[in-house]
Amino acid sequence: MKLILLGAPGAGKGTQAQVISETLSIPAISTGNIIREALKSGSEVGKKAKSYMDAGKLVPDEVVIEIIKHRLEEDDCKNGFILDGFPRTIAQAEALDRMGIEIDRVIDIEVPDEKITQRLSGRRVCESCGSSYHVVYKKPAIEEVCDVCSGTLIQRKDDHPDTIRERLMVYHDQTEPLKSYYEKKGKLFIVEGQEEVADTTRLTLAALED
Ligand code: AP5
Ligand code: ZN
Repeated sequence: MKLILLGAPGAGKGTQAQVISETLSIPAISTGNIIREALKSGSEVGKKAKSYMDAGKLVPDEVVIEIIKHRLEEDDCKNGFILDGFPRTIAQAEALDRMGIEIDRVIDIEVPDEKITQRLSGRRVCESCGSSYHVVYKKPAIEEVCDVCSGTLIQRKDDHPDTIRERLMVYHDQTEPLKSYYEKKGKLFIVEGQEEVADTTRLTLAALED
């Protein structure tokens, strides 16, 4: 199964990608996570991306397309994959088509902007392993400590209110047009993402079975 998860920042793409990845035994590939790792390691890609990411803007297409091209050539992608956060522009979707990759389904997780703001402002992530938590919806067993690796939980720089607003604007402007791009290809499935994590998971897995 070759799957794309679409949706606003904070819609729950990363949360659902993790569950689907475990259920279907295919890798979840997040361009956001790859770029954050590149940043931590001090690589050229990380340096190029930092100012865009911190400001809530999209990293230039050519940088992200190059990252995804290399990642999809790895062995673990042979039996399928979940793309979380890519493509995010029409140019990226066209680049994916040019790579000769036939996507099976595109799941769009729909959540209204007000709820997105609540989710992102309460999100905390582990600075060591990247696991995601929420101060209300997904608390760790010990405050500010990761359940998985005991690392420290921090707030992402782009989860501050002004940057969240910018990210939502960028989403509506540049990423939302992908819905009609994939609808025209007959690949789009819309999933309600406002309720509990488990409800969204149920709807997403059902959309994969049809
Ligand atoms: P990226 O890391 O991809 O961020 P994003 O798309 O903005 O998505 P998020 O990770 O913020 O949200 P999510 O939908 O995964 O939600 P999550 O599951 O964590 O990208 C960051 C930046 O990198 C971009 O701004 C850009 O600069 C750059 N970038 C990345 N890809 C790019 C590309 N292709 N092109 C150009 N630039 C790119 O959930 C959010 C919170 O809500 C969590 O706390 C979670 O616990 C909670 N939650 C989830 N589901 C529920 C639920 N059902 N109920 C209650 N709480 C929930
Ligand atoms: Zn951790």
